[in-house]
Amino acid sequence: MLRHRRKALQTVKSLDAFPKTSEECIEVSTTGGTFSVLSLLLMMWLVVMEVMYYMETTFTYTFKPDADFTEKLKINVDITIAMPCRFVGADVLDMTGQQVMTFGSLEMEDTWWVLDPDQRIHFEGVQRVNSYLRDQFHSIHELLWRSGYTNIFGDMPRRRIIPEREKDACRLYGTLEINKVAGNFHITAGKTIPLPRGHAHLAVFMDDRDYNFTHRINKLSFGDPAPGIVHPLEGDEQLAEKNHMTYQYFVTVVPTYVNTYSHRGSSFQYSVAEQSREISHEKNSHGTPGIYFKYDVSALKVEVVEHHEPLITFLTRLCGIVGGIFTCSGLISRFVGLLVNCLTCRFLKSDDNGKVEEEASKPLLKPPATLLLASNLQPSVAGPQLTSTITTTPPTLVSGPSQEPSPTT
Ligand SMILES: *[C@@H]1O[C@H](CO)[C@@H](O)[C@H](O)[C@H]1NC(C)=O
Repeated sequence: MLRHRRKALQTVKSLDAFPKTSEECIEVSTTGGTFSVLSLLLMMWLVVMEVMYYMETTFTYTFKPDADFTEKLKINVDITIAMPCRFVGADVLDMTGQQVMTFGSLEMEDTWWVLDPDQRIHFEGVQRVNSYLRDQFHSIHELLWRSGYTNIFGDMPRRRIIPEREKDACRLYGTLEINKVAGNFHITAGKTIPLPRGHAHLAVFMDDRDYNFTHRINKLSFGDPAPGIVHPLEGDEQLAEKNHMTYQYFVTVVPTYVNTYSHRGSSFQYSVAEQSREISHEKNSHGTPGIYFKYDVSALKVEVVEHHEPLITFLTRLCGIVGGIFTCSGLISRFVGLLVNCLTCRFLKSDDNGKVEEEASKPLLKPPATLLLASNLQPSVAGPQLTSTITTTPPTLVSGPSQEPSPTT
């Protein structure tokens, strides 16, 4: 039993890849010390950089067909039109031919067209920031996705200065739940009257001069709020010079799934093209005056995913850095030490003496390698052989070089 255990212990011992060198064999030098300090500094710097790199996250964007066919689309609006609410009607008409009332309805509130100074500042801020975001989106989008802010601007402040005159505008706001098919959300003159097939807008008591589709878009977004999404129409303001104007916005809604460390959820982005013209039957420009949002849903879904480098990669790189620098600095310091030795020998000592010393120092590199080899190849008898090589090498070291040059010289 005891013998077995001893044998097992011996085997394990012989497998030791980190044999300790006895104190007498250790030699310290100034170059070695310098290199240790330098490599330690380099190591620390690289490790810090690596940690910083690991802390950073990256984004991937993938496109796939949108497979969610039961989902509803929410449209969030807050629009002010320069006409009293009694003249205004808003509703949705889509490809399903569904009754207009089933989508829900928007709140309507009579108000004044002209904003008070605080509100004006806020609205212009929205306008400026939004135009900046639209222009610079490609350079700042990662920042936006990361930010976690779903509402950069905040809400419009309440009106503090109440004008004396009559309310001349209508604010429409709220959320409509619509089908995820192409459709048309519009604001026109006259109240909506549902008909068996479709609907009509009743505008009989209106004078031509009552028509004014000047409008301001405070909010127009689809789906639930998510950070990183820019709504291009927010901050849009159009002044109608003529009474009969039609504004058309062609909107393509892009389903977007956001999965970042600050937010996870589905939402929608949109892109828009805008067109406006005067309706004048004499000039052959036909149609109904109003504001039309013609939307369609993109077949492709965008997925924005934020992710980290895996921990295992990070650890592997750390090991690579530490081990790599350790080994390389060892090699270099040995080489430099050798070089220093060479030079000092050549300059300080006499020629023939120096030659011997110089050559003697060269093979010094070898013995450790043979030692290691011996211990690796014959693990069972490593103990005795090690000692024998140690004891036998010094003579060959000294004798080797002194013997070798003699035949040549
Ligand atoms: C519509 O209303 C706006 C704001 O009150 C005004 O500036 C504009 O001149 C009006 N347009 C027409 C055609 O009356």
